[in-house]
Amino acid sequence: MSGPTSPRLVAIVARARNGVIGVDNDLPWRLSSDLKRFKALTMGKPMIMGRRTWDSIGRPLPGREIVVLTRDPTFRAEGAHVAATPGEALATARRLAALTDATEIVIAGGGDIFRAFLPETETIEITEVALDCDGDAHFPALDPAEWEETCCERPERGPRDEADFHYVTLRRRRP
Ligand SMILES: NC(=O)c1ccc[n+]([C@@H]2O[C@H](COP(=O)([O-])OP(=O)(O)OC[C@H]3O[C@@H](n4cnc5c(N)ncnc54)[C@H](OP(=O)(O)O)[C@@H]3O)[C@@H](O)[C@H]2O)c1
Repeated sequence: MSGPTSPRLVAIVARARNGVIGVDNDLPWRLSSDLKRFKALTMGKPMIMGRRTWDSIGRPLPGREIVVLTRDPTFRAEGAHVAATPGEALATARRLAALTDATEIVIAGGGDIFRAFLPETETIEITEVALDCDGDAHFPALDPAEWEETCCERPERGPRDEADFHYVTLRRRRP
């Protein structure tokens, strides 16, 4: 689905030690620092997200065009684009990226969408949350042979962060 001049697909996720990313269509934690980082990493880039994640956010995000994936042909998302298949979502996101010269498309989750785009994803920005939580949405298991850690950052935990966490960047290994 991608060509040499296509914007790269970057998945951005916060996951617990046991792979949980969501519960009852919400995040299992409150990490103010991570939300700020998410904003900085996504600003100006088209984003693809699942309908359930869109519902959980409940509004457009300033400075970012959102493509919502749903199988419901009647679904409308005020202030966002709607796509019926991953291929259609990618085509829309690429068109939006071309309009603004964005070099990355953000895969914003949740679990279904991370899984659907994983084969095309080149970079994963992970917030590793130091919790084991109950949940009903998970990040897919990664094959370490396919991914190389290129960056790790351990920021200070802020007063509005409910858990310890650190940031890891994974890049797909080239054969
Ligand atoms: N921690 C994180 O970084 C992070 C990031 C994002 C989300 N989350 C959490 O993850 C949870 C949501 O994830 P989720 O896996 O339940 O749902 P999701 O991936 O956000 O959305 C799933 C929905 O997307 C649509 N969809 C999925 N695959 C499709 C396909 N191939 N073609 C067309 N439409 C498709 C379907 O919508 P329809 O049912 O409308 O057909 C499906 O029900 C929430 O708890 C959220 O807070 C966490």
